[in-house]
Amino acid sequence: MSAVQLADVALLTSADGRRLLAELLPYDDRTALATGERLRRAGHPPALVTAALTQNRLRTRVAQRWGPAGAALLPHLLLTVDGAEQAPRPTVAALRAARFGRLGIGSSVADLGCGIGIDALALANVGLDIAALDRDPVTAAVATANVEASGHSDRVTVTSIDVQEQRDPTWSRYDAAFADPARRLNGRRLTRPESWSPPLSWVLALPVTNLGVKVAPGLDRDLVPAGTEFSVVSDGGAVVEAALYRGALRDGALSRSATLLPAGARITDADLTEAAPPIRSIGEYLHEPDGAVIRAGLVAAVAMGVDGWLLDPRIAYVSTDAEVASPFLASYRVLDVMPFSLKRLRGYLRIHGVGHVVIKKRGSAVDVDELRRSLRLERTASERRIIVLTRIGVDPIVAVCLAQEPAL
Ligand SMILES: C[S@@+](CC[C@H](N)C(=O)[O-])C[C@H]1O[C@@H](n2cnc3c(N)ncnc32)[C@H](O)[C@@H]1O
Repeated sequence: MSAVQLADVALLTSADGRRLLAELLPYDDRTALATGERLRRAGHPPALVTAALTQNRLRTRVAQRWGPAGAALLPHLLLTVDGAEQAPRPTVAALRAARFGRLGIGSSVADLGCGIGIDALALANVGLDIAALDRDPVTAAVATANVEASGHSDRVTVTSIDVQEQRDPTWSRYDAAFADPARRLNGRRLTRPESWSPPLSWVLALPVTNLGVKVAPGLDRDLVPAGTEFSVVSDGGAVVEAALYRGALRDGALSRSATLLPAGARITDADLTEAAPPIRSIGEYLHEPDGAVIRAGLVAAVAMGVDGWLLDPRIAYVSTDAEVASPFLASYRVLDVMPFSLKRLRGYLRIHGVGHVVIKKRGSAVDVDELRRSLRLERTASERRIIVLTRIGVDPIVAVCLAQEPAL
């Protein structure tokens, strides 16, 4: 796919460009060539046709990631290849913007590395005034187009600058700052926070009391400064982001929180009890905490909240004897537990007429794809099971389970 150029932005924001984009059906590789040919024959400039088809392809890709709630925004947005990959889901950006909204209407926020402007637009939606800054001129031009198309030009000013090279920057004049550092380079994920752009330590050193910064969900917790909330968000069961908040953006005195979209269920370190959950053998039910709960280090809070226990202090499986309904847990009814042995498991599944399995694992070195192949399930067998591979101490075990209806 060709990269988006500065000249494309001008073409795409022209009246002809906007009309053409609005006409295009969702991108389909099989018909793209013919569509391009038809549009050129209809008299559209070739450069515009190429730029519009690139946008069409990017929008179709992003629509899949954002889901219906976010996809409704896309007809107003231009995208870049990197921007499409790095932009937050609008539902997640809106959740963050609600936090910033407590600063009060008209408060000013510096958005350091604004990308194509999804966060900036969400912040403008809650009445904040945004200085949106990005070092990449094409990205900044796309952000400007997105701000204009969304009717937020009065609230958001986009400038193309490198925030680290700003001479005499007076970040403290803003009521708050938000940074979403680039964490990829040439498609590769940058794992060291110091290699992000701007680096995490640079962001944390900003002379701004009210600060939010997006980080990797697996961030080493030793890097979270005192007085900062580590917030993790999942959407539909998948962890979609983590961020640090301080000052008025921190929720009270919290240090950790997990929020589950779309329902918005939330658990925090205030839900932790003095006592740690007991360690016991597997009960009638096995529960798998949502990834946001695990990343936020709140498995103990969820376990205690359902009167549950852990099988192993280092493994995030919760167990109970009673059926529980928790938005933070996917629950399975335990049918059988046995030491892990491929031969034994294969025989068990055959005897029980199991033809379909979902394999889960924590604390197990077993290769799931390899195991699935080795189980040689009979496709005609109708029973379905959840197979949970884990360990108790050093002993690998397997629990054969049935899925419970999703809680709540
Ligand atoms: C993860 S993206 C931001 C996505 C954005 N939050 C959104 O809503 O679309 C990071 C952006 O930071 C920009 N960036 C990286 N280093 C920068 C720097 N030193 N100064 C300004 N912008 C920078 C990159 O060009 C990139 O567009």
